Amino acid sequence: MSRVPFICGNWKLNKTLSEAVALARAVAAGAAEGVDVGVAPVATALHSVAGALGGTPVLLGAQNCYHQDAGAFTGEISPPLLADVGCKFVIVGHSERRQLFGETDEGVNLKVKAVLDAGLLPIVCVGETIDQRKAGDTMKVVSAQVKGGLKGLAPEQIGSLVLAYEPVWAIGTGLTATTDQAQQVHADIRALLRELAGDEAERARIQYGGSVKPSNAAALLDQPDIDGALVGGAALKAEDFVAIIEAAV
Ligand code: 13P
Repeated sequence: MSRVPFICGNWKLNKTLSEAVALARAVAAGAAEGVDVGVAPVATALHSVAGALGGTPVLLGAQNCYHQDAGAFTGEISPPLLADVGCKFVIVGHSERRQLFGETDEGVNLKVKAVLDAGLLPIVCVGETIDQRKAGDTMKVVSAQVKGGLKGLAPEQIGSLVLAYEPVWAIGTGLTATTDQAQQVHADIRALLRELAGDEAERARIQYGGSVKPSNAAALLDQPDIDGALVGGAALKAEDFVAIIEAAV
């Protein structure tokens, strides 16, 4: 089964409105045939970036959401409102949200369901810390995150979504998992998805994230179970991000 690679920029807490619009325009100019490209700006820039991306194939996404649609939830943003502003995908359960904001697999699961209910694509992030890897617990941790995050989903829903394997020790550190380390975990995740969703597992895309840059993207994306990248730091520079898109062609 050939899966269309999905290269996605997670801009985290960066870029003013004008910077975000300029970056979005530059990314759109570098989008390539045969590769899905997405950007996830800060919430305050979503509307402006949606305007900048209008008429281009680049997908707009959010970095987080709440699981309720509307109501007395001060400070939160819901999937239907993200759809309303033009989002097509939502990053859920990023390790920074798990570590800094106390997100749990149960909370991730509620968000994944809310994102799907709003007709949006969830990118569900999983990954182990360096201590967990050293203890030999990588797949124990990742399996629990995948099973917990996808609990109760139908096989077709699992087939339609995106997982992002982001080893916590490789995020923003300059350390990247080797291609073999990454492919091994991706293959193990795919095997787990087969248990959960049968043949639909072949359709689900699994991105790699953690210090992806132009110099290592091609080797990572060449691996049979690596179907794209979730890019942090290198997504903030159009030139680098476009080079990563080109590595996926
Ligand atoms: P870096 O590419 O900066 O390591 O960040 C990865 C990431 O967290 C993407 O979600």
